[in-house]
Amino acid sequence: MTHDPTTRLGVVGCGVMGAGIADIAARAGLDVRVVVSRAEAVPVGRDRIRRSMGQAVRRGTLTEQDRDAALGRIEVTADIGRLADRECVIEAVPENEDLKTALFTRIDCLLEDDEAVLATNTSSLPIGRMAWGTRNPQRVIGVHFFSPVPLMPLVELISTSRTDERTRTRTAALLTDALGKTLIEAPDRAGFVVNGLLIPYLLGAMRMVESGQATAETVDRGMTLGCAHPVGPLRLADLIGLDVVKAVADALHREYTEPQYAAPPVLLRLVEEGRLGKKSGRGFHTYER
Ligand SMILES: NC(=O)c1ccc[n+]([C@@H]2O[C@H](COP(=O)([O-])OP(=O)(O)OC[C@H]3O[C@@H](n4cnc5c(N)ncnc54)[C@H](O)[C@@H]3O)[C@@H](O)[C@H]2O)c1
Repeated sequence: MTHDPTTRLGVVGCGVMGAGIADIAARAGLDVRVVVSRAEAVPVGRDRIRRSMGQAVRRGTLTEQDRDAALGRIEVTADIGRLADRECVIEAVPENEDLKTALFTRIDCLLEDDEAVLATNTSSLPIGRMAWGTRNPQRVIGVHFFSPVPLMPLVELISTSRTDERTRTRTAALLTDALGKTLIEAPDRAGFVVNGLLIPYLLGAMRMVESGQATAETVDRGMTLGCAHPVGPLRLADLIGLDVVKAVADALHREYTEPQYAAPPVLLRLVEEGRLGKKSGRGFHTYER
């Protein structure tokens, strides 16, 4: 199926993932509008995108001139109405089903083009449920990026039973041709493919630390040096964000009701204390901010 490439992208949420998606899309030449929850979050969001691009400048994969040009293609706004003319909107707000479904209902009504794509970057929630409150469930699709977005090649593409072929091919073209990602088509089940396997592994590492049998350092060293993983499970959980890991575990546990998906108390306490991992400076490890 042929179609015009997507040029006007909307992103909702400018945290770890939203900033990364806005970064790579603007670098790819797209006109990007990022919606944040309130006016005070506008400069914070802009700064987060700038820092994401700054890492590419430091790695030598982006010139300062190209960074400035890319930043010039991004508008960060607290006005959700600015999404009206977008051809595709990707939501990256916290992993909360009520928040995401309410947002989808609202954006579905806002979009001027009935064929504009409505995509969610949820880590775990079944995509079909996101479409319930929309008038056009055929344009709803899952696009599960990985962190850090500029570096990780994979996106899981998740169609529901109602996603139409036009939405699927158009979204796949955006992700591969424009954003340079590699896709796997994943089933619409909580956790899709990757998190269905990854989350029980991360929770298992936490239980090992919780039981006092091994420290976080020991577990991470074991898996990096013993299994050639680039990062150990506890550092990876910190990088993802412990609140996100808990939310994904909860979604998996709701869907499958198996003990391997139950968040252990150590994770619950860390999240309650605001120790969310790298983004808050402390999780299983401590980080310079
Ligand atoms: N962190 C990861 O590694 C990762 C990987 C893949 C997918 N995800 C998913 O991406 C989504 C976002 O995760 P994150 O890690 O970026 O979280 P985050 O907490 O870093 O960012 C979420 C942002 O959304 C903002 N927000 C809340 N309500 C909003 C609203 N109504 N409108 C606009 N912005 C709003 C928050 O203020 C925050 O800045 C979640 O669904 C998560 O499961 C995360």
